[in-house]
Amino acid sequence: MSDRVTRVNTLILGAGAAGLMAAAQAGPGVLLVDHARAPGEKIRISGGGRCNFTNLDVGPENYLSENPHFCKSALARYTQWDFIELVSRHGIAWHEKTLGQLFCDGKATQIIDMLLSELRAAGADLWLQTSIAEVRHAEGRFHVTLDQQGTRRKVVADSLVLATGGKSIPKMGATGLAYDLARQFGHEIIETRPALVPFTFDKGRFTDLAGVSVPAVLSNNRARFAEALLFTHRGLSGPAVLQLSSYWREGEDVIADLAPGVDIDGHLKAARQTNGRRALTTELGALLPAKLVAHLAQAHELTGTLADLTNERVTALAEVLHGWRVKPTGTEGYRTAEVTLGGISTDGLDSKTLMSKHLPGLYALGEAVDVTGWLGGYNFQWAWASAVAVGRAI
Ligand code: FDA
Repeated sequence: MSDRVTRVNTLILGAGAAGLMAAAQAGPGVLLVDHARAPGEKIRISGGGRCNFTNLDVGPENYLSENPHFCKSALARYTQWDFIELVSRHGIAWHEKTLGQLFCDGKATQIIDMLLSELRAAGADLWLQTSIAEVRHAEGRFHVTLDQQGTRRKVVADSLVLATGGKSIPKMGATGLAYDLARQFGHEIIETRPALVPFTFDKGRFTDLAGVSVPAVLSNNRARFAEALLFTHRGLSGPAVLQLSSYWREGEDVIADLAPGVDIDGHLKAARQTNGRRALTTELGALLPAKLVAHLAQAHELTGTLADLTNERVTALAEVLHGWRVKPTGTEGYRTAEVTLGGISTDGLDSKTLMSKHLPGLYALGEAVDVTGWLGGYNFQWAWASAVAVGRAI
């Protein structure tokens, strides 16, 4: 067992999106450590392997936080256009998929390679398979004990950057280390919860619909999202569901407009005039996937022909389809959540530099902080922007 001491200006804990970007900005005298075998693992699997690295339209309204103003400064000082310029400078081809979401044409690993090459050019060091055993602050410096597969190493740093992210997907190495260390240094932690996560329901509730996807507007009294809704064996997923999950609390209903923009009331009344003998389910099949009509037919007694329908029944049916109400039993939790809501309270951080107000030299950024983006490249943009804010400050 050795006790070598390494002296650095800045020690960054966590070589994910934010840690890599901060190290690339901060340059020589910076040491970046991670317990994983490879850096940026979430970047690698993000966006279905193509990394939705930013969005054309980024604003504070795309983020959740106890303090919705906190993210403004960092997002304004390093924008999506700055990151697009970086990506383009590295010759990485990209495209807009939908709703301003930018993806690599090729593999997401291009983004990791880009960050690593920036990091090397800046002269920062990266140690992988390195765990953090202990962090102390004494005489104006951080004294950190690291563990490299049984070998202890001590690092003394002027600045310490908490970039170990949130709790989402523990199988990929996510831990609550940033929260524990922030707490140790007097920071408040806003209660964390899984976000951008599928809803679960009683077993078998949507088995007959597994794989069916419909354009929908999903809402509750806090938010509404017009995107695809996907039925799965376990419950509801798809972009609309992931988005709303960040605004949902246990025990609440969610409401889906299953035929957004379609005048169901008018459509059925007109069809009743011209095709009165047509089965109601056949007519609805023109508006919705057949499996969904069959599922709704059971729950809402959709029987008979169009001619059988009274005006009241048509209106009631239109209300059901435009305001289909379901109560999730829960979510799939951190096991599959794309991000963690909550985290290190922004009250204790300076919004320009992300430095601690309690302990000068301590910084927190990325997902570890109580700033959580929507689905669509917003979380990476926060990681890049908060990292640049830290990189410029240290
Ligand atoms: P991040 O999680 O990236 O990095 C934290 C690092 O710290 C990791 O390398 C980890 O190994 C390390 N670490 C953790 N605990 C440690 C410990 N105790 N000791 C040492 N090291 C430790 N966002 C987006 O904008 N577009 C997208 O396409 C996607 N897609 C996506 C898909 C999936 C499946 C997931 C799970 C997430 C996304 N996201 C996303 C979200 C995005 O990945 C996430 O918000 C950022 O990676 C957060 O960056 P951070 O650097 O803060 O944490």
